Amino acid sequence: MPVHVLDHPLAAHILTHLRDKTTKPATFRTLSYQLSLLLAIESTADIEIEEKIIHTPLEALTGHVLRHQPLVVVPILRAGLGMVQPFTDMFPDVAVGYIGLERDHETAKARSYYCKLPPLAGRHVFLVDPMLATGGSAVQALTVVKAQGASDVRLVCIVSAPEGVAEVEKYHPGTVIHTAALDRGLNAKKYILPGLGDFGDRLYGT
Ligand code: PRP
Ligand code: URA
Repeated sequence: MPVHVLDHPLAAHILTHLRDKTTKPATFRTLSYQLSLLLAIESTADIEIEEKIIHTPLEALTGHVLRHQPLVVVPILRAGLGMVQPFTDMFPDVAVGYIGLERDHETAKARSYYCKLPPLAGRHVFLVDPMLATGGSAVQALTVVKAQGASDVRLVCIVSAPEGVAEVEKYHPGTVIHTAALDRGLNAKKYILPGLGDFGDRLYGT
């Protein structure tokens, strides 16, 4: 399965501060933005470009610009919201869809509570969720976007567990995953180790 782990000194620096339990929500949000920006750049490295002739102040030049190809970013609420802005900042024409899923604290099973999606057929879809733990949320979200017509879906995460990667591979084989870290595994409560705790709580100070 294609799992791409971000390999950049700046990503390691940001992720270390993000993991630190003394990092407060305001800083946590800034670090999430910065790391998600690196992931947005990495996960869009193969999108299509086309030639464009322009004139520099000195001469004509055949440059390259992005081909018109509306991208769609779909955050899994609520924590995924912390990864949306880099996509909207870098790709002004991007469409945004929302899938609301919440893990039950006892069973760790995700419950769906919201879904609003733009047209997905023929578009590059970036499903963003910072934590890939058991993989239950990602599998549900992938099923939903595919049922809505998406055929090219990439999963973009900040911290992933091997169990979550395996679950995605089991139910949606071949899904491309971009992650800033692939951690050791899950604890008994299905939290990622070493992880960074509950991303949504740390992002929103809850
Ligand atoms: C977190 C996280 C993922 C999910 C991952 O969300 O943002 O969506 O858990 O766990 P899984 O791989 O085991 O499904 P949570 O359900 O805590 O909701 P929140 O984003 O509202 O905090
Ligand atoms: N969701 C989180 O926010 N953190 C984990 O470690 C697992 C699921």
